[in-house]
Amino acid sequence: MSEEMVNPQETTVVRGLEGVVAAETDISFVDGVHGDLYYKGYNIHEIADNTISYVEIVYLLLNGDLPTREQLDHLRRAIVTEMRVPTQVIKMMEIMPPSSHPMDVLRTAVSALSHFDPDAFDNSLEANRRKGIRLIAQIPTLVTSLYRIRNNLSILSPDPQLNMAQNILYMFHGSIPDERFYRAMDLLLLLHADHGLNASTFSARVTASTHADMHSAVTSALATLKGPLHGGANERVMKMLMKIKFIEEVEEYIHSMLAQGQRVMGFGHRVYKKEDPRARHLRTISEELCRLNENEQFFEIAHKIEDIVLKAKGIYPNVDFYSAIVQHALGIPPEFYTTLFAASRISGWVSHILDQYANNRLIRPTSKYTGEYNRKFVPIEERTIEPAVS
Ligand code: ACO
Repeated sequence: MSEEMVNPQETTVVRGLEGVVAAETDISFVDGVHGDLYYKGYNIHEIADNTISYVEIVYLLLNGDLPTREQLDHLRRAIVTEMRVPTQVIKMMEIMPPSSHPMDVLRTAVSALSHFDPDAFDNSLEANRRKGIRLIAQIPTLVTSLYRIRNNLSILSPDPQLNMAQNILYMFHGSIPDERFYRAMDLLLLLHADHGLNASTFSARVTASTHADMHSAVTSALATLKGPLHGGANERVMKMLMKIKFIEEVEEYIHSMLAQGQRVMGFGHRVYKKEDPRARHLRTISEELCRLNENEQFFEIAHKIEDIVLKAKGIYPNVDFYSAIVQHALGIPPEFYTTLFAASRISGWVSHILDQYANNRLIRPTSKYTGEYNRKFVPIEERTIEPAVS
């Protein structure tokens, strides 16, 4: 062991890698101290208040600057052209058991896309950018197609005249949405696009750091996003709101959860010690949509939960809390919420994977060994079961 090497047996383990700086990136910054989020230097509030559409943010993340009108049109056309997915992959989704969770089907379908990708055997920068754009285009199609399959509806092709948010709602519901609804979808997409070294992005970077291909890295990210402590929380939020049903029941329900040491889904964050800045925009838009739908029940229940959790634990809602209500108001069923998160976060994953390839060093931490040393091998015939310690 060289002098500079750290002996893991003599160091303190950082559980959950909390506070560990594991990469340099200029893609996004989660400023937990001040409760701010930056995409390529732009504060998320500046982006949410002024952005034309999600694809503008895709361009920003991939290229570093906001696009000119011409550059935006060019990227929009490229994405719409790539939105079709191979029929073999659609057929594969059709034969999946109806009981499979949409996130599991999406993970399998993205992995399957790699077999049909025209750049499958090319890992050059140009090919990886093409694969990245293709995945940004294809994941929304996979999600909406799966919804149509699950509901015995015919699958709809994207309309080249529509933007990404309009197309997603159109391919879900079969009708061109009202502007207020597709603007909400746009906001949802752009607020989920990237978020520093979150768990799924870290997974993507670990896989990319082995020089594995883009689809493998995205498949890792999807598997990680699914968990309820990460992207899977939004589905759990809506299921909790549906269980509570009436505002009069909120107080007792939440206090009893907290008393039992349970976590309230959609609250808390590893990095933010103040409010998640994305929650502010999603709270506002969810209230607006609920009013438009003349169904404010879930918003009112959510608002009350927010008050209770803040008073009782000093914990704020994260992105998943109000995003659940926005998606509900947009007619998306809860089991699809995390797939829509993925349909947006793919732009961040692709940007980070390209960043990892460009400045690669194999990500390979070490562990502190807590086991025994030099145990004596016992032949199988002589092994006995140790009595359990009571
Ligand atoms: N409900 C109740 N208590 C909570 C919650 C919550 N949602 N989140 C944290 N706490 C409490 C913990 O019980 C702990 O309290 P204690 O010190 O009295 O034991 C304290 O806050 C600190 O919690 P940690 O577990 O140390 O915080 P950590 O950084 O590990 O967790 C996490 C972050 C996993 C997001 C957590 O807040 C959580 O489980 N939230 C619910 C799931 C969720 O909403 N996930 C989505 C996160 S955003 C995203 O990934 C897109």
